[in-house]
Amino acid sequence: MQNFEYCTPTRLIFGKGVIEKLPGVMAQFGKKILLTYGGGSIKKIGLYQKVLELLKGFEIVELPGIQPNPKYDPSVLDGVRLCKEHKVDVILSAGGGSVLDCSKAIAAGACYEGEPWDLISYKVQATSALPIVDILTLAATGSEYDCGGVISRTETNDKIGYIDPLLFPAVSFLDPVYTFTVSKGQTAAGIADAMNHILEQYFCEDATLMNDGFCEAGLKSLMVNGMKCLENPEDYTARAEMMFVCTLACNNIMSLGNSESGWPMHGIEHALSGYYDITHGWGLAIITPRWMQHILSERTLPRFVKYGVNVFGIDTSLDPWEIARKAIEETYKFFESIGIPMHLRELGIDNSRIDEMAHHVAVNEGLENAYVPLTEQDIRKILIKSL
Ligand code: NZQ
Ligand code: ZN
Repeated sequence: MQNFEYCTPTRLIFGKGVIEKLPGVMAQFGKKILLTYGGGSIKKIGLYQKVLELLKGFEIVELPGIQPNPKYDPSVLDGVRLCKEHKVDVILSAGGGSVLDCSKAIAAGACYEGEPWDLISYKVQATSALPIVDILTLAATGSEYDCGGVISRTETNDKIGYIDPLLFPAVSFLDPVYTFTVSKGQTAAGIADAMNHILEQYFCEDATLMNDGFCEAGLKSLMVNGMKCLENPEDYTARAEMMFVCTLACNNIMSLGNSESGWPMHGIEHALSGYYDITHGWGLAIITPRWMQHILSERTLPRFVKYGVNVFGIDTSLDPWEIARKAIEETYKFFESIGIPMHLRELGIDNSRIDEMAHHVAVNEGLENAYVPLTEQDIRKILIKSL
């Protein structure tokens, strides 16, 4: 077991109707709020109106229009400018992971005099950040309980995971009812994203029994409850458990003491959404079985057998290689069964930029140190198999 430090300072307020606590929570941080949101879903579900009604006594500045795969320019830059101009005390993010990730970069940028990209690209370490409160409307990323935000810079095809303990949300409101309206496609993407967060932690050299059990239960819960959410989008129990597992899946709590895996599938997917602006969870679902096939070897076989037996209930009397291959096949079939297009070509990606993306990943993602080290050539092969 490896040494570790763990601290998640985020207060989770979970369940139906918890939004009523919003005024009391916001009052702890001040009077001037930057309200961030996306393309309008919060208005359709009545959350925008509810927030304004609850926060009548506060001064609210708005940053609307944050896109999926949030962009540095204009969203982060506009948010930082608004915070500085209005001397904002606290950011309130209402939406999915993209709105929250963008809010995290704004929170740090607002307390820094230079170009915010210096922070996101790790050229400069932030020394402070504005507090962030979020109301989550989509279960997927776990951004509500972690200290990372992923920001895209269109002109350079960069999609960077900006991680800093200063970026943990102070408070996350998690009401599963707000996720009832999430489309089937985005629900499936959320299931795949959270499953992949767990797989990125599960596939490592040195793992504890406790963590393996935690991860296996998380994967099974996401498959069972995710499927129920797709069948009946207003199934509160299923939406609630899915939201809860997604929240736990990305803050490392499921792999404390395990060895590092290097998160290789995320490294590769960030290039796909950086170059082609595709939905993150779909990209991951496509990469996952191809990465699995690529790294299956004598060394990794026992891990795949454990995964196949404990997650998919594959017959233990079969040959280990057969169990491993079936486990990969089951993974593929599950993603396909929830409606995810399983080939990059279906998302408009052909082979014209594969070499460029493989190079970008090899240079920027450090995958030579992953659980199974990946060279530029390995990354290229995985991308080609995914076409
Ligand atoms: O923009 P609006 O109108 O709000 O619509 C959004 C958006 O079009 C919509 N939506 C959100 N809540 C809804 C809803 N539609 C109906 N009803 C609701 N209740 O869903 C669409 C997608 O939203 P988005 O926020 O982009 O999805 P998600 O939460 O999956 O976030 C994806 C982003 O998070 C990053 C990804 O790379 C991607 O940029 N990630 C962040 C991580 C983190 N911070 O830890 C980890 C992840 O690995 C991931 O990389
Ligand atoms: Zn992810």
